[in-house]
Amino acid sequence: MKILSIESSCDETSAAVVEERTVLSNIIATQIAEHRIYGGVVPEIASRRHTEAISAVCDEALKEAGIEYSDIDAVAVTFAPGLIGALLVGVNFAKGLSLSLGVPLIPVHHLRSHIAANYIAHPDLKPPFLCLLVSGGNTVIAEVEDYTKFKILGGTRDDAAGECFDKTARQMGLEYPGGVTLDKIATVSDFTKYPLPFPKSGGGEYDFSFSGLKTAVINTVHNAKQKGEGIDVPVLCATIRERVCDMLIENTFKAAENLGYKKIALAGGVSANSELRRRMEEECKKRGFELYFPPLKYCGDNAAMVGAQGYYEYLSGNIASSDLNATATLPIDYK
Ligand code: KG4
Repeated sequence: MKILSIESSCDETSAAVVEERTVLSNIIATQIAEHRIYGGVVPEIASRRHTEAISAVCDEALKEAGIEYSDIDAVAVTFAPGLIGALLVGVNFAKGLSLSLGVPLIPVHHLRSHIAANYIAHPDLKPPFLCLLVSGGNTVIAEVEDYTKFKILGGTRDDAAGECFDKTARQMGLEYPGGVTLDKIATVSDFTKYPLPFPKSGGGEYDFSFSGLKTAVINTVHNAKQKGEGIDVPVLCATIRERVCDMLIENTFKAAENLGYKKIALAGGVSANSELRRRMEEECKKRGFELYFPPLKYCGDNAAMVGAQGYYEYLSGNIASSDLNATATLPIDYK
């Protein structure tokens, strides 16, 4: 079954052709360079760029897969969560395609597709497993009970981990997307130089809070500026990264151990973080867990992962009608 999948939830316009877990093509038109000058994604610009790019990106995905529109068996699209104007571009384009081709329209939840990036890379990975889902807008620990059945165990009470990276990086004058830059330049020489807090969420056992850490970094940078002192940016970056990893890793293992999961998957843009991967690999080996994470090219937003999840949504009977709408916020375990 060949699925043409579309992703436009934020600042990447992407289309892919996927056959179950096999990616035949995956085209991404990124807007990063344009948003960089504003230090973050400008939603209005994102929507306009998606509108301009989407048709050509879909054509390119078919060309690279070596097929025609008439060979497509279904169209899958990210419909939630994300920037509403951006999502609407993909959803409307997908609706038009599915109507004109006479094929099913499959609605795909963005976070579910991030998890499915692991299915592409690991043919042996099957639910149930535990997933730490860390992206720019979300930080969630979820039980993946089945391909389309999820249970949220905990999540952030305020900022997402990626947001904490991006905002603290911006404060230090680093280029957008800050998380990527921060990870590249972080050098560990002395974790005691900037004593950052380890905030507790005050919520559920597996919840997170990142806003206290973000504020502490902002204050550190401001105080230094007021005193006319410089900041050792690579060391501060490494300290922030260390704190974020401490929080993510602690709660993930607590959940896995309490609930008896032996398989842990990482997903979302922040799963590209080199230190998170290194420490999770080390800990999993030490504690006897199997660890899965997507290859770097499938960590960020892309349509291949939408197609992989779309296949399982299709099998479970999740087919949309032509009144499908986009939704800015929607939990991963939506009914
Ligand atoms: O999953 P994603 O591409 O978009 C959302 O669905 O939110 O995640 C983007 C986030 C950004 O906050 C970006 O800074 C972060 O992922 N990110 C990283 C790294 N690569 C991307 N954060 C830390 N280290 C990285 N290597």
